[in-house]
Amino acid sequence: MTLEQIAAPGSEWWRSAVIYQIYPRSFADASGDGIGDLPGITSRLGSLKELGVDAIWLSPFMTSPQRDAGYDVADYRDVDPLFGTLADFDEMLAQAHARGIRVIVDLVPNHSSDQHAWFQQALKAAPGSPERARYIFRDGKGENGELPPNNWESVFGGGQWTRVTEADGTPGQWYLHIFDPTQPDFDWTNEEVREEFRSILRFWLDRGVDGFRVDVAHGMIKKDGLPDYVPPADADSMGGGEDDVPYWGQPGVHDIYRDWHKVMAEYDGDRALCGEAWLPTLKKTSLWVRPDEMHQTFNFPYLMTPWDAAQLRAVIRESLDEFGGVGAPSTWVLSNHDVVRHASRLALTADNPQGEGIGPKSPGKPDAVIGLARGRAATTLMLSLPGSAYLYQGEELGLPEAMEIPDEFRQDPTWFRTNGERYGRDGCRVPLPWTADAPAYGFNDTGASWLPQPDEWARFARDVEEGDAGSTLNLYKLLIGLRREHALGSGSLVWEDGGDDTVAFRRGDIHVVANLGTEPVELGDVTFLVQSEAFTGTALPPNTAAWFTKD
Ligand code: NOJ
Repeated sequence: MTLEQIAAPGSEWWRSAVIYQIYPRSFADASGDGIGDLPGITSRLGSLKELGVDAIWLSPFMTSPQRDAGYDVADYRDVDPLFGTLADFDEMLAQAHARGIRVIVDLVPNHSSDQHAWFQQALKAAPGSPERARYIFRDGKGENGELPPNNWESVFGGGQWTRVTEADGTPGQWYLHIFDPTQPDFDWTNEEVREEFRSILRFWLDRGVDGFRVDVAHGMIKKDGLPDYVPPADADSMGGGEDDVPYWGQPGVHDIYRDWHKVMAEYDGDRALCGEAWLPTLKKTSLWVRPDEMHQTFNFPYLMTPWDAAQLRAVIRESLDEFGGVGAPSTWVLSNHDVVRHASRLALTADNPQGEGIGPKSPGKPDAVIGLARGRAATTLMLSLPGSAYLYQGEELGLPEAMEIPDEFRQDPTWFRTNGERYGRDGCRVPLPWTADAPAYGFNDTGASWLPQPDEWARFARDVEEGDAGSTLNLYKLLIGLRREHALGSGSLVWEDGGDDTVAFRRGDIHVVANLGTEPVELGDVTFLVQSEAFTGTALPPNTAAWFTKD
């Protein structure tokens, strides 16, 4: 088969889907303990059907000590009791499928929890043993091995190495963790690790999942020799920035994904892999979705683009070119559980590298009205683009970042590892408001909430927004419905000239314009299908986007 044949866009669902990210601990809490759970998700699937999404992606719900909100997995084949049981998962999956909603689960292959049986065995075993060879253990530098093997800095602050005490009580080797010390990295050059993950993939595929979101899909292979490296001061914590970082984007990762592609192909029904890979360029990112590797990868360059028309036009053009060049659809995403919510981020007035978060003392806090308007305009633009779009729970309500969480409630390891220097990601993880006039805004029946919900969130509650024709929720429903009706998830895009401060293009008969400038933009004789904010006349106000037809 030639590349062109393999690459020819087909009708696989993931090429054009709207995929809704559920962060289980903050979505809906059936047990009432203040942490969301799988039965909670099942109970709210009807709302997601009404929203119109094609699929849901669940952040991790596997057995975990929750040192990084479940991204520290102790048993990859079971559900953490906080979230329910495997039977609850099967029920949720069946109910989602019955509504025509596909289900993607999060797979965390770069590292496990330090409570994983393999890591516990490694701690008890001797240096050089097969148990240690599943992780990255090394002798320290210095006369007595008292210095870490290299100078790599952890994403969450501090170093990437932690020293263990050997079975005989003496200070021993060091193990590598790109993230928290409770998240030791696997050694992916070890065939035993590879075989274990093939088996884990099959475990969930056999249960019927439609795909995996692959955590840290750019970090699993480290450069030979583990050479010293210091990132630039302004680097985003998850990577990006520079090209040759010895623990990000090393070429060896591609063999792993080619291998997994074959595992996915053993199953019917277009199962998909979506990589979480924070890479410096879209050209490099596109390597993750070559025809025999992953099916999708998040478009983080798009997410990171500021509210600037020229930069936005450029990133959309480049995304379509680079992903299209390898036969993959582009994906689009504006928010997730690791970044400042886009209804706040797009109006920040000071630098805020990813992972920094916003807290009471942050500079450059966003104006709420401008932020929400830009957020709605950005989504109006995004949902008109060809490819697959990822939504993050709560953005359909226009939720802003929670910026005033008191210190004592913070849980992100970033906050602790940097001694409060970086607020981290708790502000985008606050439990959802469902009902204005109910305990915990209907997140559960008890009023408990693992992070406090801001007082002003009653106005964002789903029941309030359902009854308001101009709400963000009704805007999302309209956009998703029209996107489906006009098959905007696939097909081509024709650029139009709307002026320097706009992003303007045509999708078939539908014209799309976003105004990122400070002056209204006259559109002429048009019939509107969507206005991100209601306005009269035909001049598109600043911070607004619209879909329309021309006679
Ligand atoms: C990326 C996840 O999205 C993030 O939440 C997590 O902290 C790191 N990977 C480590 O697993």
